[in-house]
Amino acid sequence: METLTVNTTHQSYPIILGEQLLQEAETVFERIYGSKKKRLFVITDTTVAPLYLDQLKENLKSHQIVGTFVIPAGEGSKSFEMYNQAMTSMLEAKLDRASVVIALGGGVVGDLAGFLSSTYMRGISFVQIPTTLLAHDSSVGGKTGINHPLGKNLIGAFHQPDAVVYDLSLLRSLPEREWRSGYGEVLKHGYIGDQDLLSCVQNSTITNITTSVLRKSIAVKAKIVEEDEREKGVRAYLNFGHTMAHALEQVSGYGVVTHGEAVVNGMLFSLFLSKQFHPSLPIQVEDERKRLEKLGYSFAPLETMDVEKIITSMLTDKKNSDSKIADVILEDSQKPRVILLDKNKFEAYLYQFKGELFS
Ligand SMILES: NC(=O)c1ccc[n+]([C@@H]2O[C@H](COP(=O)([O-])OP(=O)(O)OC[C@H]3O[C@@H](n4cnc5c(N)ncnc54)[C@H](O)[C@@H]3O)[C@@H](O)[C@H]2O)c1
Ligand SMILES: [Zn+2]
Repeated sequence: METLTVNTTHQSYPIILGEQLLQEAETVFERIYGSKKKRLFVITDTTVAPLYLDQLKENLKSHQIVGTFVIPAGEGSKSFEMYNQAMTSMLEAKLDRASVVIALGGGVVGDLAGFLSSTYMRGISFVQIPTTLLAHDSSVGGKTGINHPLGKNLIGAFHQPDAVVYDLSLLRSLPEREWRSGYGEVLKHGYIGDQDLLSCVQNSTITNITTSVLRKSIAVKAKIVEEDEREKGVRAYLNFGHTMAHALEQVSGYGVVTHGEAVVNGMLFSLFLSKQFHPSLPIQVEDERKRLEKLGYSFAPLETMDVEKIITSMLTDKKNSDSKIADVILEDSQKPRVILLDKNKFEAYLYQFKGELFS
């Protein structure tokens, strides 16, 4: 069991990492809450529940589990409707202000459960037990929320968990595609913050995630969140590859490419853009592409993108204005910076990129 501490302005909390932590849940909770016994409410999804819910309950017997709410697996559950139903169930279970919500699942469960706990009686505690690789990113940093028909993650709150309990053995049941999705964010943390991590994961395989790799990847995110909890500055660096990723996800229809696959596509373009501004950056875009392809990523989404639709989608992103597009590039290895480009200039770079890499 390893612990990494996140220190935000209002709160410090541990990220506890290890194998078979669910079996040791009592000990883990003792670490978080001392001898205090808690009233717990578990939120999970229909894929994770049959795999791990009984195990969790079995190993937290000294606490009182007063309710469980199982959402349908998938992004569709980050909705008002599910929020409403889960909130009703929490009220019926009579959670009080000292109760704790447990998010057992991937980013969808974590975002919804976090938002529920941030608003139940103006905010109660929650603990994240991530079960996907991607959730090593989403469970750290305190961003919680749901989607609106007009856009993703538009409703939410900053609400830090009391702890993140990351049991790597829970990842073994993940389908390959979910590994690949989560690995995209590990690569991102390498590009923006840790060269050793980057070299290690570029020369590995997507399912070969060790505690040490995860700790390094989480540490990059934690450090940025500690510096800028409310996204007023450096937290934007975490959007490396994401301007393009969000547009590719939206244009191709959500679920067609996974988030991490879209992020890897986006990062390749951002690396190209980085080279236009900083030719001495010690990265060759073509080499990076080959490395990423070797890990199993496809760049078909970039190759087949409709540039005009991509630009239109980027302009609707809440981070961009009517005519300018923000993106994150690297001025040197692990030195990200934000640039703001006129949409026509951005479009020209997209055509140049397509021409140079895919003709
Ligand atoms: N809050 C943040 O800072 C932040 C950051 C990044 C992403 N996100 C959000 O995270 C969400 C994506 O997260 P995700 O990729 O984990 O998606 P997810 O929660 O939908 O999980 C992906 C799929 O894997 C299944 N699954 C989960 N754990 C499993 C396991 N151990 N074995 C087998 N199957 C399992 C799920 O049921 C689901 O079908 C998005 O909604 C995104 O907006 C939030
Ligand atoms: Zn992401």
